Amino acid sequence: MDKKHFYITTPIYYPSAKAHIGHGLTTVMADAMTRFKKMQGYETRFLTGMDEHGQKVEKAALAAGKTPQQHVDDMAEMWSSLWKKLMVENDDFIRTTEHRHTEAAQALFKKIYDKGDIYLSKYQGWYCVSCETFFTERQVGEAHLCPDCGKMVETVEEESYFFRMSKYQDRLLEYIEAHPDFIQPVSRRNEMINFIKGGLEDLSVSRTTFGWGIPVPINSKHVIYVWFDALINYISALGYGTTQDALYQKFWPADIHLMAKDIIRFHTVIWPIILMAADIPLPKQIFGHGWVLLDTGKMSKSKGNVVDPVVLIEKYGTAAVRYFLLRDIPSGQDGYYSEAALVQRINIDLANDYGNLVSRTVAMVEKYFGGAVPSCGALTPLEEELRAIAKTAAEEAACCMEKLDFPNALSAVFKLIGRANKYIDETAPWTLAKDPAEKERLGTVMYHLMESVRIATLLISPAMPDIPAKVWAQTGHQAAENCLWEHAAWGGTKAGQPVKKGESLFPRIEWKEEAETPAPQPVAVPAAEKEPAAKAEPAETQALIDYEDFAKLDLRVARVLSCEKVEKADKLLKLEVQVGEERRTIVAGVAKYYTPEQMVGRKIVIVANLKPAKLRGIESQGMLLAASGDDMLEVITLQSEVPAGGKVK
Ligand code: ME8
Ligand code: MG
Repeated sequence: MDKKHFYITTPIYYPSAKAHIGHGLTTVMADAMTRFKKMQGYETRFLTGMDEHGQKVEKAALAAGKTPQQHVDDMAEMWSSLWKKLMVENDDFIRTTEHRHTEAAQALFKKIYDKGDIYLSKYQGWYCVSCETFFTERQVGEAHLCPDCGKMVETVEEESYFFRMSKYQDRLLEYIEAHPDFIQPVSRRNEMINFIKGGLEDLSVSRTTFGWGIPVPINSKHVIYVWFDALINYISALGYGTTQDALYQKFWPADIHLMAKDIIRFHTVIWPIILMAADIPLPKQIFGHGWVLLDTGKMSKSKGNVVDPVVLIEKYGTAAVRYFLLRDIPSGQDGYYSEAALVQRINIDLANDYGNLVSRTVAMVEKYFGGAVPSCGALTPLEEELRAIAKTAAEEAACCMEKLDFPNALSAVFKLIGRANKYIDETAPWTLAKDPAEKERLGTVMYHLMESVRIATLLISPAMPDIPAKVWAQTGHQAAENCLWEHAAWGGTKAGQPVKKGESLFPRIEWKEEAETPAPQPVAVPAAEKEPAAKAEPAETQALIDYEDFAKLDLRVARVLSCEKVEKADKLLKLEVQVGEERRTIVAGVAKYYTPEQMVGRKIVIVANLKPAKLRGIESQGMLLAASGDDMLEVITLQSEVPAGGKVK
């Protein structure tokens, strides 16, 4: 019988010298999912790659004194080697400068043009090079800041081909509404429905003012807009539109396009409409996970150490890094990375609970049965319970993984591990071993421990693929008999199989948190109603504070979602801000310096743990930071990609 197919993709990443640990989350999730599906008997395909065109890449190449092609070639190596280090087993690595891709992108552009859904006109508006996104005047506000990343946008006025997206608005909405699984998790689905209901405009899909892109097939003055080009990778990698399209026939439509929420809009609006316009079936699911946020203050000197997954892999091993990413970032939500949290996972989950269960089990079989697994005798309620928990662990883990909910999948497996450790204490094998009449009972206990280790190891393998081989080398299990999900059924351990203690799987890590002197401190200006201090005292005469005092402040990056004037208070603005997943209202005394429109879209810094205060009947949940001088004030605004919710230290 033909195998069931499963096709998953990550975004194709921009060429960048430094991979973020967040990139690792997407790829590791996709890899774990692929391994899980393989274990369930699917024929799988897992695609990742690199997004090599566009103005941003051209600029970076120029700055590095290279041609764009040289630049991207150098970067491709970095990504591939990172994925290897993370034990990511992608089946293909697409690069958008490859012929197979440029050909497919041109063919698709032409097909849609011939159909009349792409037309020539003139673009006038704003462009964020960093996000490679067009924005309207209203979206960038008077400050001309990108509503997504907060950087300055560029003005663009040029001849351009337009994609008739507006025509597909209703069809897309109907599709999303009829397919509840199409956009996941539900929060993103609702967000996107609202976005589309707000109205879709035709999209500028070509540029003439720079050259690094795929030429428009009907007009070589133009290059294809990089997002239109990039999205097509998901099918160009399968040979779409060529005579060698066996992979396309087999694997399209994709089961999951996985990514973080930042690019969900491109995938749930532009991509489906490209496909609709070209009469190609839509992918089954677009899943937008949350961000990995960094708590940089707690790390050692260079911030580079924090973001670079390679440094972590070298220090703690691939399994631990993968485990942390999958276990600690809640499904679909933002989560924090810190080295302390990673070490805690290693020491508690991996060393204390799992590693210990394996080493105790193996050591006891060696000691009490000369290294040969005993046979299983009569069961007591304790064994019945352990078996039931092993069965539930497999079922729950599978059910959670189907939903890309790895934290709960792993937690289900650790329930079995925890129960098995407790079972050792309850059965006290060392006491049984003293009484020859208890030999059979001791054998039953050992057999149940061996099975618990086997099943837990099997269920954990999508997350930590290098661990099973290390465990089997000690427990004497055969890899081939322990590689499918169905092998998790009770009874795979064979009496007589040889057991031999080896190295500890996860040595405990000694960890001391390093106290660090914080960077220069921002000047906090009272947000509202209080008169700003006329002149700051010279720094030398100010009372010094301890680091502890400073550390009490919870300073966070917040994005201003909306802003309005407070009635009858000419100094005050009321801001709705987003901090991580949370929304807050902040009242700030900046109306003299900023219009509400100038505030919207900015990334500002707020004191998040300030006691709420009522100002003109509005509860202000925090205070923003601004720098002030004689009759001037500037709200501290970030230009980088630090996400809302990020800590400021
Ligand atoms: O957007 N937390 O590429 P990109 C979680 N080329 N995920 C993160 C993350 C973080 N802190 N940082 C990055 C692009 N990611 C386009 C994509 S697809 C046709 C074109 C991950 O290099 C996450 O998957 O900016 C996010 O969607 C992706 O990196 C963006 O990577
Ligand atoms: Mg990005």
